[in-house]
Amino acid sequence: MLLELRNVTIPTEDKKCVIVNNISFGIKEKSIHAIIGPNGSGKSTLAYTIMGLENYKISQGQILFDGKDISDMNITERAKLGITLAWQEPARIDGLSVLKYISLGMKDKLNLVKQVSETLKIVNLEPERYINRKIDESLSGGERKRIELAAAIAMKPRLIILDEPSAGLDFIVIEDFMNIFAKIKKLDMTVLLITHREDVGLVAEYGTLLWRGDHIITDEFPKVMLRYCAKAGLREFCKRTLYKNGAACFDEDYIERIFREESTS
Ligand SMILES: Nc1ncnc2c1ncn2[C@@H]1O[C@H](COP(=O)(O)OP(=O)(O)OP(=O)(O)O)[C@@H](O)[C@H]1O
Ligand SMILES: [Mg+2]
Repeated sequence: MLLELRNVTIPTEDKKCVIVNNISFGIKEKSIHAIIGPNGSGKSTLAYTIMGLENYKISQGQILFDGKDISDMNITERAKLGITLAWQEPARIDGLSVLKYISLGMKDKLNLVKQVSETLKIVNLEPERYINRKIDESLSGGERKRIELAAAIAMKPRLIILDEPSAGLDFIVIEDFMNIFAKIKKLDMTVLLITHREDVGLVAEYGTLLWRGDHIITDEFPKVMLRYCAKAGLREFCKRTLYKNGAACFDEDYIERIFREESTS
């Protein structure tokens, strides 16, 4: 496991309430792992805690990265180990050229233009059209998101955490997103994808379902998705997404059994 959470509890900043309650699961190296769950289930809190943001401290348990306990490390120390969070505070980067912005976090600055161009291709932006653009309001929401993702990829982190803000992926169509992730997969990075759009999670091999701060299941993504649908009562949505995308091959009986189990539990 590249990242392992052991009995992690995350309280609110004032320590009066628990947001994430005693959860344990692992993320395999070089996998794409999605965390899903309804609004308010604790996904972002978990992402910020793994990243090591100031106001997110665990009150119980351990976070291990590559076998090493990082629970007491701050964000800078964790970043040095190769943990990166993308899609955060996009406003900070206003005014830089795309080339400059993407190259900021690159370790190896040789053949910069070539490297940045390759990274832009991963996120399906044509390098010659974008490399000299300024990052400002003239970029569309989707272009901006792609550029932010490209910048995170360019850092070559070992673990990249993508917390998609609610409106975020509406800018990128699902087929495009799948295509981008197929390319990311070849880069040998580990990706933790946090999403409220459960169908988007289908790019992931593994998943974790959080429910009001509790850990429900960690497994292959389609199984996690099925449990989510059963808990949320989304039978039609489940059949539509899990069948049509061909990502999983559950038969009707199996789906009905999981829905029954959930309704009686
Ligand atoms: N500082 C805080 N103080 C009190 N409650 C908080 C604090 N931060 C988060 N919460 C609560 O913790 C819960 C989990 O929030 P979080 O943002 O992690 O959910 P989420 O799963 O990312 O939701 P969404 O899908 O809406 O992004 C929410 O009920 C939220 O209101
Ligand atoms: Mg969130």
